[in-house]
Amino acid sequence: MAEKVSHIAFLVLLVLSISVTYTEQLQSSQTQTLLRIQHLLYNPPFLNGWNNGTDFCNAEPSSTVTIVCYEDSITQLHIIGDVGAPRLPENFSIDSFVTTLVRLPSLTVLRLVSLGLWGPLPTKLTRLSSLEILNLTSNFFHGTILPEISSLTNLQTLILDGNNFTGGLPDGLASLTTLAVLSVKYNSLYGSLSESLESLENLRVLALSNNKFSGEVPDLSSLVNLQILDLGDNALGPRFPAISNKIERIVLRRNKFTFGIPEKVQSYHQLEHLDISSNRFVGPFPASLLSLPSIAYVNIADNKFTGMLFENLPCNPSLDFVNLTSNLLTGKLPSCLHPGSKHRVVSYAGNCLATVDKNQHPILFCKNEALAVGILPRHKTRKQVSKIALALSLTGGIIGAIILVGIALLVVRNFIARRAVQTPPTRFVEDNASTSYTSKFLRDARYITRATKLGALGLPAYRTFSLEELEEATNNFDTSTFIGEGSHDQMYRGQLKDGSFVAVRCLKMKRNHSTQHFMYHIELMSKLRHHHLVSALGHCFEYYLDDSSVSRVFLVFEYVPNGTLRSWISVCSRSPSYLAEKHIRRKLTWAQRIAAATGVAKGIQFLHTGIVPGLFSNNLKITDILLDQNLAAKISSYNLPLLADYMGKGRLQNFLSGSNNFESAREKHQDKFDIYDFGVILLEIISGKPINSRNEVEVLKDQLLTIVIADDASRKSVVDPVIKSSCSEESLKTMMEICCRCLHKDPLDRPSIEDVLWNLQFASQVQDAWRGDSQSSDGSPISPMQSSRLKLTIKQ
Ligand SMILES: *[C@@H]1O[C@H](CO)[C@@H](O)[C@H](O)[C@H]1NC(C)=O
Ligand SMILES: *[C@@H]1O[C@H](CO)[C@@H](O)[C@H](O)[C@H]1NC(C)=O
Ligand SMILES: *[C@@H]1O[C@H](CO)[C@@H](O)[C@H](O)[C@H]1NC(C)=O
Ligand SMILES: *[C@@H]1O[C@H](CO)[C@@H](O)[C@H](O)[C@H]1NC(C)=O
Ligand SMILES: *[C@@H]1O[C@H](CO)[C@@H](O)[C@H](O)[C@H]1NC(C)=O
Repeated sequence: MAEKVSHIAFLVLLVLSISVTYTEQLQSSQTQTLLRIQHLLYNPPFLNGWNNGTDFCNAEPSSTVTIVCYEDSITQLHIIGDVGAPRLPENFSIDSFVTTLVRLPSLTVLRLVSLGLWGPLPTKLTRLSSLEILNLTSNFFHGTILPEISSLTNLQTLILDGNNFTGGLPDGLASLTTLAVLSVKYNSLYGSLSESLESLENLRVLALSNNKFSGEVPDLSSLVNLQILDLGDNALGPRFPAISNKIERIVLRRNKFTFGIPEKVQSYHQLEHLDISSNRFVGPFPASLLSLPSIAYVNIADNKFTGMLFENLPCNPSLDFVNLTSNLLTGKLPSCLHPGSKHRVVSYAGNCLATVDKNQHPILFCKNEALAVGILPRHKTRKQVSKIALALSLTGGIIGAIILVGIALLVVRNFIARRAVQTPPTRFVEDNASTSYTSKFLRDARYITRATKLGALGLPAYRTFSLEELEEATNNFDTSTFIGEGSHDQMYRGQLKDGSFVAVRCLKMKRNHSTQHFMYHIELMSKLRHHHLVSALGHCFEYYLDDSSVSRVFLVFEYVPNGTLRSWISVCSRSPSYLAEKHIRRKLTWAQRIAAATGVAKGIQFLHTGIVPGLFSNNLKITDILLDQNLAAKISSYNLPLLADYMGKGRLQNFLSGSNNFESAREKHQDKFDIYDFGVILLEIISGKPINSRNEVEVLKDQLLTIVIADDASRKSVVDPVIKSSCSEESLKTMMEICCRCLHKDPLDRPSIEDVLWNLQFASQVQDAWRGDSQSSDGSPISPMQSSRLKLTIKQ
């Protein structure tokens, strides 16, 4: 037993001692490596503290040295020398240095900055196969960038800035698929940029500035994650590079870019910094750049951009640096760029702008210069451009010059004419609210269970419309498409490209608000989709040019063609409704009336509980209830806060509603105001008489109250004569009862919308049963199919 214990103790000791000596050895070997590095760097003062006894893994990181260990291995080594440190002496050997370095095989981050290192990078470096970040900024490396660097397959960041590397970028880089940052600024690299760049899909930063690269930039649009592109101070060009639209920073300054800015730049919604100064750009300056949603810095100085600026051009509010110096711009400096408006640095000397200061050329100068450079019109394709160039080089000499001037003259004339015509007072921007809000909408879905059934509506997804699209759909808001107007808005009927009809509601904004102010409303709008609502399909903003605030909002709804509920119930329609229906229709049967009322109630239920927050006090009127081709009732006008908030239109109070309530009561029973309005609609459905005043409501209600408890015959005396013979007593009584309860003076005593729905469904069931029993029929009820055909022949 004792022997066993001692055996075990011995084993444990053995294991312990092995592991201890092993780690000690590893640790000490790495310590020796660091001390050797210290020696190979000629014991710089900032490494003075390093000696045999230093606990490297637990030392405080400093601005010059940081060492990170993982399980007794060094994984990160940062040594930052003094800025501008000189080259190490002649007997420095980069080979010995790297040979020492690779004895730290677990290194994932290696940063050796400003240490005076020099020589070509030894191939051995690639033995650090775990390397993820390599930063060798500000040394004196020369020679080509190792092609073997491509074997560092974990490399994410490669920074070789401020050395003296020569040659091109190695083709092998293409296999570094995890590379996110490639920066080789301030070297002596030359040659054309390799197309292998195109395969670096994960690249976020590509910084090649201050080298001697030349030729066209390869197509970078496949680098879909690219955020920073810095190609400044090379000899690249002439075409503006193709870049994908997550780009945030573009620097092309001091190159040989010539052909104008592509239209795609206007889709760079995240672009903050654009420096294309000191190139040879010709062609019109797209002033819309100044209003890109994220733009803060625009420098186009020292080019030959042409075009006319206008005082009312909009600028992005966060724009704080604009340099237009030395171009061929004419017109007026946009007022948003005037000195003193915000903390903006704005330079614009050396153009032909109509300003009071002296640093402008006479306008003729810009015109002549524009002729001399030959403006390439924006819509000319590359093919045409090269054809012109080819023709020029073939003819040459005087003939060439004459042709050039001729073409330029024509182009300038066209261009100026086009600019003159194309200065609409307002501009339209499609925002991407639809997509972002739809996704948020889906995230909120647990709150809006009923709304999730919307897919079954058969409506296209809620989206942003462009003004062009709406203008086309309504024939430029032609009077023939006008279908009505309210106090602050007009409604137009339009037909979209896909053939579908829409109703476009156009609201002129009284106050100035940016798009941001409307986002809440737009989000709400996108939820307003239900079988018994005239559903929202999308929206469109129109902006003022001078301050980018919203001038008009267009709300696009589904078009419901079949007239108002009133037009199907009481012939006389005096109401100033959007869709006042002049056709005399066959009146709805009793069963159809119950169905219509049920539809309205379901629409109200959706407005109250189907969206978050609910919409209450919708000021419902029978003339705002529309019927579709299947005679399904749809509520067309609901209490959009957009209307109340931005147009000073208090829609809260229906002239028919029970009114003398305190505000607090209104808050508490806000759902009951719609119930009252519903009662008024029900009253008209039952009586068949148009009701237009509170007084009429009271009179009819009192009549109902007295006869609802009387006998069947007297009940039928107030009913629309058309349906007298076709309604069952039981269902009529139910409808009258619920109608009276809805119209109760005290909101508390009015039924809930669920209660209303239950009663309507009951009325519908007893009516069905009664008709089944009696076999009687009220003539020939209109089938949905017939009615839609009927409607089509009327309308078209
Ligand atoms: C460091 O320790 C090693 C042995 O562990 C010894 O040979 C060496 O002389 C020591 N160096 C210094 C500078 O103390
Ligand atoms: C480099 O030369 C200097 C003398 O100029 C000498 O002191 C030093 O030890 C040499 N270093 C190496 C690494 O050979
Ligand atoms: C590389 O080193 C330079 C100089 O210290 C530093 O400015 C830069 O941020 C470093 N880059 C990375 C990615 O560590
Ligand atoms: C960089 O290398 C080139 C060619 O090898 C050489 O002419 C130039 O002087 C070097 N520049 C620096 C700053 O070392
Ligand atoms: C604008 O560009 C011109 C020409 O490159 C330059 O002289 C001027 O300093 C720049 N303005 C500012 C504010 O940087």
